[in-house]
Amino acid sequence: MSYLDVIVFCILISAKCCSQDVVFPSWFKFGAASAAYQIEGGWNASDKGESMWDKLLHTQPRVAADGANGDVACDSYHLWRRDIEMCVELGLELYRFSISWPRLLPSGFPNHISEDGKNYYNNLINGLLEKGIEPVVTLYHFDLPQSLQDLGGWANPLIADWFADYARVVFTLYGDRVKTWLTLNEPFGICDVGYNLQQAPYLNDTEVGRYLCNKNTMLAHAKAWRLYQEEFKPRYHGKVSLSTLFIWYEPLTPDDKEVTELTIEHWEGRYAHPIFSKEGGWPPRIQQFLDNAAKKEGYHRPRLPTFTAEEIELVRGTYDFYGLNHYTTRKVRKAKFGEEIESWPFYGSKELGIVLENDRSWPLGSVDWFAMYPEGLWKQLHWLKDTYGVQEILITENGYVNVDDDLNDWKRMKYIRDNLEQIQYAIEDGINVTGYIHWTLMDNFEWLAGYKVNFGLYAVNFTDPERKRTPRESARYYSKVTRGRSYDYLHVGLYE
Ligand code: BGC
Repeated sequence: MSYLDVIVFCILISAKCCSQDVVFPSWFKFGAASAAYQIEGGWNASDKGESMWDKLLHTQPRVAADGANGDVACDSYHLWRRDIEMCVELGLELYRFSISWPRLLPSGFPNHISEDGKNYYNNLINGLLEKGIEPVVTLYHFDLPQSLQDLGGWANPLIADWFADYARVVFTLYGDRVKTWLTLNEPFGICDVGYNLQQAPYLNDTEVGRYLCNKNTMLAHAKAWRLYQEEFKPRYHGKVSLSTLFIWYEPLTPDDKEVTELTIEHWEGRYAHPIFSKEGGWPPRIQQFLDNAAKKEGYHRPRLPTFTAEEIELVRGTYDFYGLNHYTTRKVRKAKFGEEIESWPFYGSKELGIVLENDRSWPLGSVDWFAMYPEGLWKQLHWLKDTYGVQEILITENGYVNVDDDLNDWKRMKYIRDNLEQIQYAIEDGINVTGYIHWTLMDNFEWLAGYKVNFGLYAVNFTDPERKRTPRESARYYSKVTRGRSYDYLHVGLYE
């Protein structure tokens, strides 16, 4: 046993000794998540259309680390049976995956539905249900058909209807078996990241494009939600929401309180307030802030496009639960005069004149922006309940990034344990958190970081043509959690 192993062992044993056996309620469900482009591969199988990621990484291969792309990824297009087996090994009740829009609708439009695409998802859904695992299906996880990107993508207001047409096809094909739907994964990622050269469509348009995209994602989500409500809910009784990225922010000093509130509105509010607030529309402070900025910059119209009264009504209240992707917490402080502000990976800091820091007392994960501060999740759950009065929250992503591919990923186990503990506290406080979906089932194509970092419960050998999957210690731990319905298993598996 190395010195480090001894320390880890002591930490884990002490965690075990101090913990009580807390059991999650029977209605609380455990799951894991993935996304089409990150795992499927089969980028040109059968009649699949090109996605904007295919296009980006084939034409600008240097954009992602090591020139990587998702052409094969985890090859789940062929290995989906093994993926289901892994869900069974983990004892999952939920498996969240996404549908590739261009795989199902090669032209982007419903003029032609791919037989092959249709069967792929039918097999996956049926295979999961046979094992008693509920599919949680995301309609869109960052992989727009390139044909639609060529027409302006998320900056074109017509996309709201194109998305609703696509959603109708998906609900028609799978609505009899899928009861939990997420329209969009992280519109923040689609717009704020995608229009800031950090993700497809890899545009540098943070001033205008990003905000057009912001508004259009809200309308697209709302149209799909209403469509389900009217045409499918009476028959299928499912629930629809979206996954919203929510990094928790806290003021560094009392003096930074106001700017922290503005930060929360900027990062989260622009994608949550129109849907979840009682009054709808943009969060007022950030709207004002951005309007003033636009005037000073000489724009004749707000950069954040105004919602009409009808649009506010169209979007407001279009949810059946809150889908939360939570990863970490940051401290916010006003930048000092002349201070250089970095905006990666937290976009928009320059615009607000803020600096995001880690609290010295929070341990860091394997990268310098990833603080291990599980209490942030608890605070965020409270904030969501207090601010929007949401009645149900499903954690649709929560996971730990690692830079080495060690199978003994004890920090990930600790991260899961500590986050589950905070969820448990929130439930005890009366917040209705109905499930926890871990990101991610297995290592996969981590966007521009390629295969250099990992989030997986299972490691994947990307140099092996078979893409062998191997459980990490966190997979063993999580399978104890799902079966025992408690997080108090940190000692298990490590030294067996
Ligand atoms: C995204 C995933 C991504 C994960 C880790 C989430 O925001 O939905 O696609 O892999 O973060 O970066």
